[in-house]
Amino acid sequence: MIAQIVKIDADALLSTDSNILNTLFDGPVRALEADEAIGMPTETVYGLAANCLRPCAASKIFKIKNRPMDNPLICHISSVEMLKPLVDPEFLSNIPERVQEVMKEFWPGPLTLLLPAHPELPECVTAGLKTVGVRFPAHKVAQELIARAGFPLAAPSANLSGRPSPTTAAHVFNDLHDRINWIVDGGNAGVGLESTVVDLLSNPPMILRPGGITQAMLKRIVPDIIVYRQKKQQQSGDCDENGGVVIDESKPPTPGMKYKHYAPTAPVWLFALKSPTGSVVDDSKNISPLIETYLRVHAQGKRIMRLCVTEGVDFEASESVQNIYLSRTGDMVEIAHNLFGGLREADESCPDVIVAEAVNEEDEGLAIMNRLIKSAGEEIIIL
Ligand code: TXA
Ligand code: MG
Repeated sequence: MIAQIVKIDADALLSTDSNILNTLFDGPVRALEADEAIGMPTETVYGLAANCLRPCAASKIFKIKNRPMDNPLICHISSVEMLKPLVDPEFLSNIPERVQEVMKEFWPGPLTLLLPAHPELPECVTAGLKTVGVRFPAHKVAQELIARAGFPLAAPSANLSGRPSPTTAAHVFNDLHDRINWIVDGGNAGVGLESTVVDLLSNPPMILRPGGITQAMLKRIVPDIIVYRQKKQQQSGDCDENGGVVIDESKPPTPGMKYKHYAPTAPVWLFALKSPTGSVVDDSKNISPLIETYLRVHAQGKRIMRLCVTEGVDFEASESVQNIYLSRTGDMVEIAHNLFGGLREADESCPDVIVAEAVNEEDEGLAIMNRLIKSAGEEIIIL
């Protein structure tokens, strides 16, 4: 088996002849109808998609990715009507106003909502939980694919479990080419990080996984929303900088959180400067010379790939260090967009160490740090 890549341009969807479109979508849609899993573009990262209403289809996703069975899947819809087979009918007939408002504001888009699951939804999709994660992707090719299939698609990120999520069809091909038949190539994933996962049913409502939809954006509709953080990611006090309470529970409410994530083969060393205010990033100082001194002691003779978030940070003795720029200006949206691709690119040259530095955890920075900390095995080297 070797995956076929079908290129479909989101911008050209409306202007493309319908016969051509039918031909392009034919193979992938037939595969979905035959309970296969395929690669699907979305605006966040590429997904490994299969019919979430059929256990024999959804369960293939776990096998293909080597995904632990206790980690539930997100279901993708292309219309609000598609919630019907996914969500508890009683809840659906009386959706709380706040949930409706959030749907209206952020769907389609990079936001996953936990909703009470339909009793007939396959157990492997929810991993036996009472809730189901639902997302209405903004990517036009994803919407078209789901609409043509006619059923919602379960889709985790289309990487082998533990690897950085894929943001291009080529990343999906690298990981899964001998395990799936089709990859729909809809171009580079725009956001670059997975969706924000939100639980509005809990009290207080919680962001379980930070993403492109930030806490500040959600607070406009849900003022009391807080960010869930595990103890190890907690850097200071009991309040986060955005005024949300940080809770610590030994059992994460998102099963996926407990697994190794986003990890290239080479170890990632994540550096930060602790500022007097307790935040992990101190913008007033240049961290580069301190990283360089650290590497001289701890990584002598090692080949190093460095993920840079701004220009002008070269080390003095830079022969053994190669730079990859996630951004040249420190722009957070750009850093998010390039992070997973950068981790994969760094890994390709088989370095001994990948060096990254912390970014400010405000807004999009929170999601970036969440992924960076996971890729670094939950360790930050504070200088
Ligand atoms: O942007 C995204 O969300 C991408 C694209 C493909 O849509 N998908 C994605 O799926 O990131 P995945 O499986 O890699 O991450 C889903 C996360 C996991 O951490 C999982 O534990 C959590 O969402 N999750 C899913 N359903 C849940 C539920 N019912 N309760 C708690 N957590 C849930
Ligand atoms: Mg994933």
